[in-house]
Amino acid sequence: MTYAERCCEQIAALKEKKEVNILAIESSCDETAAAIVQSGRKILSNAVFSQIPLHAIYGGVVPEIASRAHVDAVDRMVDQALKEAGMTFDDIDALAVTYGPGLVGALLTGVSCAKALSYALDKPLIPVNHIEGHICANYLTHETLEPPFVCLVASGGHSHILMVEDYGVYKLLGCTQDDAAGEAFDKAARVLHLPYPGGPLLDKMAQSGNPQALKLPRPHTPGEYDFSFSGLKTAFINACHNLEQKGQTLPAEDLAASFQHAVVDQLLHKTMQAARDYQAPRLALAGGVSANSGLRAAFEKACKREGIQLFMPQLKLCGDNAAMIGSAAYYRLLRDEVAPLSLNAKPALRLV
Ligand code: KG4
Ligand code: ZN
Repeated sequence: MTYAERCCEQIAALKEKKEVNILAIESSCDETAAAIVQSGRKILSNAVFSQIPLHAIYGGVVPEIASRAHVDAVDRMVDQALKEAGMTFDDIDALAVTYGPGLVGALLTGVSCAKALSYALDKPLIPVNHIEGHICANYLTHETLEPPFVCLVASGGHSHILMVEDYGVYKLLGCTQDDAAGEAFDKAARVLHLPYPGGPLLDKMAQSGNPQALKLPRPHTPGEYDFSFSGLKTAFINACHNLEQKGQTLPAEDLAASFQHAVVDQLLHKTMQAARDYQAPRLALAGGVSANSGLRAAFEKACKREGIQLFMPQLKLCGDNAAMIGSAAYYRLLRDEVAPLSLNAKPALRLV
């Protein structure tokens, strides 16, 4: 029997199984994570090692340091995930791994570890797109959420509006033309002298500021649902420098609140427009930026006003983790998607 035939047999058996336990690994950027998820919806364990302190002194992620730190931590995270779930490898039905998008050296660590486990344990390996993982964080938070729904994915590297037509079936409605929302938050935070990653700190600071203190431009984009954050970021940085030079510095809280308001405004209006145009009864947020308090509050208000049901991942599932990869993998498994042992990292992998 060939390897592919053996995988098909295993997948067919798993599709009949009531509870499928997937051990997932995530190492696309600066979190080394392993988790065990049951049948796409139930987290049995979720171990995350954050490398942020290793990168903060450089003001951003250093790819080589990230790769080495992943190699150092990945086995430990797998052990921790098994221990937290009270399981051994015998209880695991399949492996899953993020194979893109992300930093190539970082991705390779998780991919190599997952392939080795798949081979040694003779269990199928499911390849997962990181962006899809972020979307699936909602399935772990909301038991009843099912496609179709419109989803805003806003992270450090991506800003997309997608129509989730079915499990694993996506239609791209719009995306950023330049910077991602998280990247813009981090760059604006740097001007406010906040350490990397500045997004969450800027959010905290913005809570006591006046969002109308600084007027910022609203960018024009070619597509109705596309974003642009680069001009906004530059305008903000220039405004901060100009104020500083004139000795008229506004309180940092006001600057943070004004920037956050401008980013949230753009994300909100484009996504709500898409939800309206596509007559979506449900809307979900995903990605690191979905932890932003201003964004969550703005969507709650708008969705309530327009009668759209809103879904947001619980805060600890907004950032990078392996549980979301384990959820996505289950729905990939149901669609017979398994990886060959030649699976490679794909840094520029697209979802659609
Ligand atoms: O999804 P994620 O953890 O990693 C990527 O896949 O990129 O997103 C990380 C990004 C960072 O840019 C971080 O600053 C931003 O999400 N972020 C936030 C908040 N929490 C995380 N941005 C604004 N407000 C937050 N509360
Ligand atoms: Zn991410």
